[in-house]
Amino acid sequence: MRVAVIGAGLIGQAWAMVFAAGGNEVRVWDANDSALANAMSLIRGQLDELQEQGLVDDARAAADRLVACATLEDALQGVAYVQENLPERVELKREVFARMDSLCGPNVVLASSTSSIPASAFTATLAHRERCLVAHPVNPPYLIPVVELCAAPWTSSEAIATARQLMLEVGQQPVTVHKELQGFVLNRLQGALLREAFRLVEMGAISVEDLDVTVKAGLGLRWAFMGPFETIDLNAPGGVDDYCDRYGEMYRSISEEQTGTSAWKPEVIAEITRQRRSLLSADELTQRRLWRDAKLMELARARREQARSKTTA
Ligand SMILES: NC(=O)c1ccc[n+]([C@@H]2O[C@H](COP(=O)([O-])OP(=O)(O)OC[C@H]3O[C@@H](n4cnc5c(N)ncnc54)[C@H](O)[C@@H]3O)[C@@H](O)[C@H]2O)c1
Repeated sequence: MRVAVIGAGLIGQAWAMVFAAGGNEVRVWDANDSALANAMSLIRGQLDELQEQGLVDDARAAADRLVACATLEDALQGVAYVQENLPERVELKREVFARMDSLCGPNVVLASSTSSIPASAFTATLAHRERCLVAHPVNPPYLIPVVELCAAPWTSSEAIATARQLMLEVGQQPVTVHKELQGFVLNRLQGALLREAFRLVEMGAISVEDLDVTVKAGLGLRWAFMGPFETIDLNAPGGVDDYCDRYGEMYRSISEEQTGTSAWKPEVIAEITRQRRSLLSADELTQRRLWRDAKLMELARARREQARSKTTA
């Protein structure tokens, strides 16, 4: 398929890599010429690195499928799918979606990477608004495969199906969000967990370090391969309804203590910052981010090998 990546910052670059590595011709455009040139060279370098890590089969072939385009019009030539990655400003998305809507045939799907703006906020007045949706990735999508597909009330099921099919073909794991919710689903879940984590630190119930251990050596181990519903389905002999019978009252009672406090109080932020900086100084943050990315690559490689052994078994 021929696809366009509009905006070549952090997320645009990552999508270009994902689509090109998945065998698609990718036309990339950014309003800033030097940012575009820089992005193309970063993408090539990162594809090489992913190949070295065993996460891309043929980086050279993927790079050859990338085309840097001087104008938006040029980038949209002959494409079937567009992934927009411009800064998170609704008026900018509105303007660019209006231009793309007038430049593309009605069957071309227009998706936005927006982290927080519902598609209805920037597609309402378009002639072919039914082909627009949000396809929200997690950074970086070549290592974290979930992508949230979120329709506006007028998005067609065909547009969602096209986006879903493309995402599957390039190795992403699409999920469909059926309502235009703030934060879609992933960030709402993250927000709920963070809210309770802040509350527990505020109560003096646990240190920042031990809270992180509770997740990484506890809940998080299962979360790399199963979600919370499958977890509870397996955690009672009779499955999910048995789990709810056994533990529902405990969770109901806990939930009464989980209301009424504001999660992000300045004094709690200050305390969490103090504890984090005593574990990792500010000048070690960059090094630790590189460590995190290396760990994510190890995980991605393990998942890739698992998927391969399943298909050859
Ligand atoms: N960074 C993340 O972790 C993340 C995760 C998921 C989704 N997103 C979403 O992806 C989108 C892009 O985020 P990002 O982090 O890549 O931003 P970024 O700032 O890295 O990239 C934005 C790019 O858009 C270009 N640009 C700015 N104005 C433009 C214009 N008028 N026309 C064309 N190009 C223009 C810039 O030159 C830049 O290259 C946002 O909607 C963001 O919410 C970001």
